[in-house]
Amino acid sequence: MLSIMIRGLGGAAAFALLAPTAAVAQEPVKIGLILPMTGPFTSTGKQITAAVHLYMQQHGDTVAGRKIEVILRDDAGNAEATKRLAQELIVNSHARIIAGFGLTPLALVAAPLATQAKVPEIIMAAGTSIITERSPYIVRTSFTVPQSAKVTAEWAAKNNIGKVVTLVTDYAPGHDAEASFTEHYKAAGGQVVAALRVPLQNPDFAPFLQRAADAKPDAIFVFVPSGPGAIVMKQYVERGMDKAGIKMIGTGDLTDDDILPGYGDVALGIITAHFYATAHPSAANKAYVEAFKKDNPGMRPNFMSVGGYDGMHLIYEALKKTGGKDDGDTLVEAMKGMKWESPRGPIEIDSRTRDIIQNVYVRKVERVGGELQNVEFATFEAVKDPVKEEKK
Ligand code: DHB
Repeated sequence: MLSIMIRGLGGAAAFALLAPTAAVAQEPVKIGLILPMTGPFTSTGKQITAAVHLYMQQHGDTVAGRKIEVILRDDAGNAEATKRLAQELIVNSHARIIAGFGLTPLALVAAPLATQAKVPEIIMAAGTSIITERSPYIVRTSFTVPQSAKVTAEWAAKNNIGKVVTLVTDYAPGHDAEASFTEHYKAAGGQVVAALRVPLQNPDFAPFLQRAADAKPDAIFVFVPSGPGAIVMKQYVERGMDKAGIKMIGTGDLTDDDILPGYGDVALGIITAHFYATAHPSAANKAYVEAFKKDNPGMRPNFMSVGGYDGMHLIYEALKKTGGKDDGDTLVEAMKGMKWESPRGPIEIDSRTRDIIQNVYVRKVERVGGELQNVEFATFEAVKDPVKEEKK
């Protein structure tokens, strides 16, 4: 039986953070999974919990003689809640690993707690480059936004898109997307004529899209987190920008596989770059998608789900390597350099940065068997986080 417990935002006040006591061999390894299960970023929480559940169903709940217990907590996408829940999980529940983190500010707020308690913090969703540098106990199985933004820039510059307006959500990963796209697009000969930023909370893209249209670019480059892509699409069409011949390109967050089926035909032909598509044509992914759909009727796995699935794989394999030893230093050492075949393709944890190395695919939205899909047509292999590579 899988022990996944959920508790809402209520509960005790913040506790002082104390180092956890050493685990007794027979004790379960508790994983504190903190995700937005309510609020605007619920899709991320649902996708990741579904993938974690599937992984445990397929691989059992005992590793190297240790029982695995996942304790799920809902932070509703609120950083204060993330901090309080991470403290409670480490101090009161004796979580040996914390995981999840649906947005960058949520990942960042937990970093000092991971460092102080020497507890690994597994980033299954958030994508700002700097996150892994905030604690030596952070390991990432999701992605960095610049991995996808750089590939989008290089593809655009080579494909007759000479003039772009960037439109990003105004918080850390959006700033990463804007900086990375602009740097690599300009280096490849492209011109950025305006850089627009839209608020994270309750975004209204319409006035920004109007400004973008007025600049008459060949394309708008869009970064939004998983979720608001549907609103951007709707407002882009309402302004007639598709008919005016202004293309929309972006990182794959824009054509998120969880919500893409609802976009309608206006999404056909949109080009994005990303590390995972439901339609990724590998045997491992076909098996993953089939099992995921069977376990979660009416849902299909998106890029957030693989961050969760691979996060569990990382934890299971690290525990196997350490023979069930679960102190943070030993676990993080075991995770460094680990390689495996994910549903997204081959991946590796960079032993230098603890960040993920993965393929980034260029994809086009097409109808496949009646369903809108991101269909991959080009591959950039083994992409490291470009921002940390440049800092070397
Ligand atoms: C982040 C969140 C997302 O949903 C996404 O698609 C990309 C980045 C983030 O907050 O880091």
